[in-house]
Amino acid sequence: MTPKRILRGQLVDFPMEGQIRHEEKGALALGKDGRILWRGAFAKMKREWRELPTDDYGDHLIIPGFIDAHIHFPQYRLLAAPGKDLLDWLNRFTFPEEGRYASKAHAVKAADIFLDTLIAHGTTSALAFSSVHEGAADALFAAAHARGMALITGKTMMDRNAPEPVRDEAEAGGIASERLIKKWHGLGRLQYAITPRFAITSTPEQLAVSGALVKAHPDCFMQTHLSESHPEIETVKRLFPKAKDYTDVYDKFGLLGPKSFFAHGIHLSPRELARLAEAKSKVVHCPTSNTFLGSGLFHLTRTREAGVGAGLATDVGGGTSYSMLATMGEAYKVAMLNGIKLTAAHEFHMSTQGNAELLGLKDVGTLDAGKCADITVLDPEATPVLARRQALSTTLEDVLFSLMILGDDRAIRATYVHGKRLHHRKSK
Ligand code: GUN
Ligand code: ZN
Repeated sequence: MTPKRILRGQLVDFPMEGQIRHEEKGALALGKDGRILWRGAFAKMKREWRELPTDDYGDHLIIPGFIDAHIHFPQYRLLAAPGKDLLDWLNRFTFPEEGRYASKAHAVKAADIFLDTLIAHGTTSALAFSSVHEGAADALFAAAHARGMALITGKTMMDRNAPEPVRDEAEAGGIASERLIKKWHGLGRLQYAITPRFAITSTPEQLAVSGALVKAHPDCFMQTHLSESHPEIETVKRLFPKAKDYTDVYDKFGLLGPKSFFAHGIHLSPRELARLAEAKSKVVHCPTSNTFLGSGLFHLTRTREAGVGAGLATDVGGGTSYSMLATMGEAYKVAMLNGIKLTAAHEFHMSTQGNAELLGLKDVGTLDAGKCADITVLDPEATPVLARRQALSTTLEDVLFSLMILGDDRAIRATYVHGKRLHHRKSK
């Protein structure tokens, strides 16, 4: 097959934890099917391919697109809402904003903005919450499909402790989820996530409906929130007095499994971690959200050592940035406060192949031939501060480290989704 386009630059990817794979004067050949046809040194590429249309990024870094393992579509403009804590933030800011997604017209417009913002930040895949409204999830799926994105999302289910515009009912919420699964799950690169918001906003009946959906659709994802803040944990205890702990609430309703993703998991007991590990369920670290809402310091090492896979995510709009670079920077600081030192190699792996493996997304995560061409191009000297810092960098680890501490969307030179360039910043 003849490639459709050649990309030139430094190829950098992270196939294994803590490992950086690097081709300094590299080339990627993208096929007509939107996949990577060939990777290697430009000097070793077939001579006849040199005449093909080429995007030459010089010494910029060509990396796999970032994957955000937890984000909220209907919070796309809600960043920086000053809640006292999680529950106050949800009640005063989040639920009223999410209520606006009852309007299909609002959701359709918002879906384009949301996905284009992800792409402008170098993020090519996400596991996302939609709002409680079926039409909003529908709009988000349609917008992702139009862009060829591998998006996993679902209609949020919440039938109590929230105002009427963001509530559904247990049975009706289940039926709407079924309709969306039938319509979207497995279409192109889309997948469905069964999405009970969290134990506080779902009745036992709704959690039972969620469990039945998980059982009926084992190939779908399940996403919810778990053990984020102390007042949240206390409330769950009051609502479910018979449960052993917060994790046990979900467990009793059949919500633990290998495709179950629990956002946060900051204050889990050893029993809860052991049970999550046994069920092969995952937790997702959302550092900018955890520091912004004052929820606590997620302990990556403790989680991993318990055998629980941990992803990395922005959690916009509790999170304060769409940028996975900024998110890695905050994860570094949270780890430092826990006495753990993370490397850039470790964190870039988490944001790409690590999240891909956790989500079971086999055709993204690295720049290997055969993978989908979901690609981000980073300019390590995108800002004056970065440029001056890079003058001191002596290794690739150092270049990547400065990018994750100081970088944001200004460092995203280009983003490709399924082989198509959907974002581009002119070179300085
Ligand atoms: N817990 C339940 N809903 C939410 C949400 O929207 N954001 C965060 N950070 N935590 C939650
Ligand atoms: Zn969340």
